[in-house]
Amino acid sequence: MNDTGDKKLWDGRFTEATDAFVEEFTASISFDQIMARHDITGSIAHATMLEQAGVLTSDEVALIVSGLKAIETEILAGAFEWSVSLEDVHMNIEKALTDRIGDVGKKLHTGRSRNDQVATDIRLYLREQIDQILSLLTKLQTGLIGLAEQQAHTIMPGFTHLQVAQPITFGHHLMAWNEMLERDIDRMIDCRKRVNVLPLGAAALAGTTFPIQRELTAELLGFDRVAENSLDAVSDRDFAIEFCSAASMLMMHYSRWAEELILWSSSQFDFIELPDRFCTGSSIMPQKKNPDVPELVRGKSARVFGSLITLLTLMKSQPLAYNKDNQEDKEPLFDVVDTLIGSSRAFADMIPAIEAKPENMRNAAMKGYATATDLADYLVKRGLPFRDAHDVVGKLVGMAISIEKDLSELSLEQLRGGSELIEEDIYEVLTLEGSVAARNHIGGTNPDQVLAAIARARIRIEERQH
Ligand code: ARG
Repeated sequence: MNDTGDKKLWDGRFTEATDAFVEEFTASISFDQIMARHDITGSIAHATMLEQAGVLTSDEVALIVSGLKAIETEILAGAFEWSVSLEDVHMNIEKALTDRIGDVGKKLHTGRSRNDQVATDIRLYLREQIDQILSLLTKLQTGLIGLAEQQAHTIMPGFTHLQVAQPITFGHHLMAWNEMLERDIDRMIDCRKRVNVLPLGAAALAGTTFPIQRELTAELLGFDRVAENSLDAVSDRDFAIEFCSAASMLMMHYSRWAEELILWSSSQFDFIELPDRFCTGSSIMPQKKNPDVPELVRGKSARVFGSLITLLTLMKSQPLAYNKDNQEDKEPLFDVVDTLIGSSRAFADMIPAIEAKPENMRNAAMKGYATATDLADYLVKRGLPFRDAHDVVGKLVGMAISIEKDLSELSLEQLRGGSELIEEDIYEVLTLEGSVAARNHIGGTNPDQVLAAIARARIRIEERQH
């Protein structure tokens, strides 16, 4: 017995009660209770396997399974009372089972330890979350591609160094985001393979003396395979680190998109309008419409990166096999999951609702001598070495700046002052549409190429669903 009255499930060798502060300090129930469903699913599979293995009778297992299901109903209804003195989700549920069905409940833990149990629970939890994340990412990707299709012909300036570089289409820019997202989805799918491995059977660290059938448990729980080595099975948290790493990359991408959305919706750029429902006002400045959702997502990337470092640091000095340190894996992991799901949900709703302002985008592309490279390429096609062409165009741009005109506004005479190779057909080359259309190869910004990229992207989504 102890201060709070619950008998510990492990206190056989102890002669004094756990210190009240230590009890509080070592407990994980406040946060690991979110794995209750997964703990019960794992326990039902374990008990079912023990029956097949002849370790428990079918009557015993029937009692255990119905008891666990009743407990699950109680938990889902919010009627279960969690006890700190029972430390964690595993012992809370086991104790409730014994209270409910009597001594048979005490047989559930045969051939298992909390070490392989918790490792199993986290994997079941994470697998479920990854599946939810993947469906959100597919929704986001579908919306993003839809917007890119609408904007396949919309001209905007492409930037390097945040200076106008060359004209592109807005659709092409959005499809660049899609490529990032596609890699993120790939990483999640790949990570899931290493999550979906069964630790149960490893018991505390060395395996168990009972004739367990691990393949059966794996099959019951939908795991692809069983963990090969019992020591590794209870101590491996690579899968969680890998997930946080993939999540960090995704949040880094979201943060880059957010940064662009914030810039583009400013009055300086004024390229897009974010729907009001994703923005907020200022309590003092009545004119303000702040891009809160993108800003918050950009900010939230920080906590995800932080959790990745937390987990790496948590694991880096641990000797085999399980150590209590591992209890610290949950809060960062859960926080990454929640942050990623929240950010993905926000983006999946917001991105397709972005309203482009094609006029402003076009005007901005007109301003920065974005077709200068096209002029240089034109000269090269007429025999001038590229370096010389670069120099000729540089001088023409300098002249155009001094008289405040775009290259396309210079007279043929003025242009030929730079090079005699320039003729009347130069004006097609100097238009924004001509410049964009000329990049006509896979990966280029020509609108037909953008539409072809969109078609390929849709096939990839389609293939993934099967
Ligand atoms: N609450 C523990 C955790 O999260 C469960 C495993 C405890 N195992 C042990 N040997 N104390 O890691």
